[in-house]
Amino acid sequence: MKKKTRASIELPPKLVPVFAGTARTRFSYGGRGSGKTRSFALMTAVKGYQWGNSIPPRKGQILCAREFMNSLSDSSFEEIKTAIQSIPWLDAYYDCGEKYIKSYDGNISYTFSGLRRSLDSIKSKARILLCWVDEAEALSGRAYDVLIPTVREVDSEIWVTWNPESKYSATNERFRDKIPHDSKGVQLNFRDNPWFPDVLEQTRLEDKEQRPDMYEHIWEGSYLVYTEGSYYASEMRRARDEDRIGKVRYDRGTGVVVSFDLGIGDSTALWFAQFVGTEVHLIDYYEASGVGLEHYVKVLQDRGYVYDQYVFPHDIRVRELGSGKSRLETLDQLGIHADKVEIAPQLLIDDGIQQVRAMLDKCFFDEKNCEKGIDCLLNYQRDWDDNGKTWRMRPNHNWASHGADAFRYLAIGYQPYNQNWDKPLRRNLKGVV
Ligand SMILES: Nc1ncnc2c1ncn2[C@@H]1O[C@H](COP(=O)(O)OP(=O)(O)OP(=O)(O)O)[C@@H](O)[C@H]1O
Ligand SMILES: [Mg+2]
Repeated sequence: MKKKTRASIELPPKLVPVFAGTARTRFSYGGRGSGKTRSFALMTAVKGYQWGNSIPPRKGQILCAREFMNSLSDSSFEEIKTAIQSIPWLDAYYDCGEKYIKSYDGNISYTFSGLRRSLDSIKSKARILLCWVDEAEALSGRAYDVLIPTVREVDSEIWVTWNPESKYSATNERFRDKIPHDSKGVQLNFRDNPWFPDVLEQTRLEDKEQRPDMYEHIWEGSYLVYTEGSYYASEMRRARDEDRIGKVRYDRGTGVVVSFDLGIGDSTALWFAQFVGTEVHLIDYYEASGVGLEHYVKVLQDRGYVYDQYVFPHDIRVRELGSGKSRLETLDQLGIHADKVEIAPQLLIDDGIQQVRAMLDKCFFDEKNCEKGIDCLLNYQRDWDDNGKTWRMRPNHNWASHGADAFRYLAIGYQPYNQNWDKPLRRNLKGVV
């Protein structure tokens, strides 16, 4: 009988319970330099060692995935090699070549993949015992949809590590917002890393002093909030300071105006507003994707508000391939009739943004119902050009654009019926359909 031996490795103490016992999913998120990559890299090798040496041995692959990988140098390859070589008994078990890592006994082999390009070939990978996704913030929901059911060996595991950026990233939604069944995970920051290097400590202190806006995101694992480059951050900050973000009730005596940003294969966003005197009350917000117009009509009905106007972007009149009908005609059949439809004029985006800014100072937001919409307005930003290190003059298309666009259509498309309200500079184009 093989004699059991004990070997020890060192981990940041907060990660010890994450790797103890069994789990389908193990994860860790947090700021820079917290030891996530090194520790998970090391533990993949330990797991492989345990599987390869069990009786009978378990044979299979350890898949190290990322969203983007052009070459091995963009992958976790070097990290895993370094981790293996730091522990003599792991070094004796694995053969680390220039382009491969596999166990000498042939039981365990590592593969490295960029999911954006090779998602389909992932499906055909056999015997994945463990998949570790590092830098997972960028991973798309679609990549998870394919990946997770592919890792299907008995007792196989999925490990995920990331530096949080957006509350709405697929990774955050899947592993932090709704914690998966049978999972173990923890937040890890620089102070949890017993080996936090001096060189990073210097950078950290400099960031704290010179880039306080970014500090919480970089070092404490907070979500990234853009202030520079954000179109509406100062108006939204003013709304917060003036207590215009809080509880806003639905006024039964006033009709609701709904504005839409209709996504095709993308998210659709809806703002629900009431124009009360000179104030604009944002009472609700809704966003979804992958469903037809009927779904949104049902959402409107279920909300139970009394509607006065439906504001749509100008492309609502375009006839769709296949049906030959415009979305406006489809909506009419679903009960949203032309007499209540307003079509936002086709303005330059910058002109629309100016109108939003003017309107924001009159806005009151219901904090609970409009949570995501408010986040969209806060994070609607210029596109960042990483090569030129400048902000481009156009908006970045990301999760925040849908809510921000629907809000822009409200600002430019709403047809005033209240004399106290400043008339937007527009003509209603209704009737041109
Ligand atoms: N087990 C270890 N032994 C020795 N040094 C370690 C160990 N774990 C972490 N370190 C040191 O801490 C540094 C940061 O670790 P690591 O790269 O794993 O952090 P991270 O959380 O992945 O950071 P980032 O967010 O930047 O990707 C490493 O470069 C290394 O210097
Ligand atoms: Mg890392």
